[in-house]
Amino acid sequence: MGVSAEKINEQRAVLKPVVVGGSGLNGLAPYELFSRYRWYGESTIKLLDFCRIKAGERVLDIGCGTGTSTKYILKRVGLKGSVVGLDVDERMLDDTRKKFGEDNVRFVAGDARDVARILKPGYDAVLCFNGMHLMRDPYEVCAGAHDVLKTGGVFGFNVGFFHGDAESHRLGIAIGREIFKVAGEKGLKKEDVSVGQRIRRMRVGDYEDFMAGAGFKGVASEIFEYELPAESLVIFFRTRGASLDILPDIDSNLRADILSAAARNVLEKNDLKSVRRNWLYVRGVRTV
Ligand SMILES: C[S@@+](CC[C@H](N)C(=O)[O-])C[C@H]1O[C@@H](n2cnc3c(N)ncnc32)[C@H](O)[C@@H]1O
Repeated sequence: MGVSAEKINEQRAVLKPVVVGGSGLNGLAPYELFSRYRWYGESTIKLLDFCRIKAGERVLDIGCGTGTSTKYILKRVGLKGSVVGLDVDERMLDDTRKKFGEDNVRFVAGDARDVARILKPGYDAVLCFNGMHLMRDPYEVCAGAHDVLKTGGVFGFNVGFFHGDAESHRLGIAIGREIFKVAGEKGLKKEDVSVGQRIRRMRVGDYEDFMAGAGFKGVASEIFEYELPAESLVIFFRTRGASLDILPDIDSNLRADILSAAARNVLEKNDLKSVRRNWLYVRGVRTV
């Protein structure tokens, strides 16, 4: 059954706004480190499997960032396939491009909402790894992905921030409290620590409705659990995407120091060597 445009617009109207711009990655270094952990590779390959990505395909990687997900796609599609990475952060893309010498990959700057205006259609697959929670209007991203796909093409994304990851949400709240403490110790005033607007946690059903509303058929979602070593979470808190939400207005290095120290304190206090986290996977097929 389809979803009415009215229902989609009602769901869009109540979306928490997110700050757009900048990669959210605080430079290549923390994210590169973070993505070296085994769970990152597993969760990335899982989306390739979930969307049945095959050798020879032409794939668009929305929110490609430092190109960590792009690398996995390139490996899967092989020399006969190709990948385009799209990201809103132009500066980040300059660095990302330097890491790739292959002829069958290129990077384009732009907002995912405008993808159908930026790129010519004809993709076998559009994928978005770990980025949908940062998009200003996820419905428009779904609609744009639909527009640039071939008939029979698949759009799929994975996202670690959504309603349904209660345990990690609780941990996030504990770390949030600790951040106030650490920030105070570093001489910041309470008013310097404000909750910004970067990460959005959507309901699974809203994502599914957006996919159906954009015209996708066979919409399916699944949740997979990964075990993240505590140390990888501490590194995650050095990335800008994690920290901007909490300390939007201070120097990025100081922000990264405060957040990673707070994460370390909470993990050590609770004697957590690793944390189990849910990731949501959603896919749909363009049939017309
Ligand atoms: C957490 S990173 C994920 C990077 C990579 N896909 C991965 O999984 O390793 C999210 C990326 O989405 C990008 N992004 C956020 N909003 C965007 C938008 N509106 N359009 C395009 N890219 C966006 C950010 O710049 C960032 O590079």
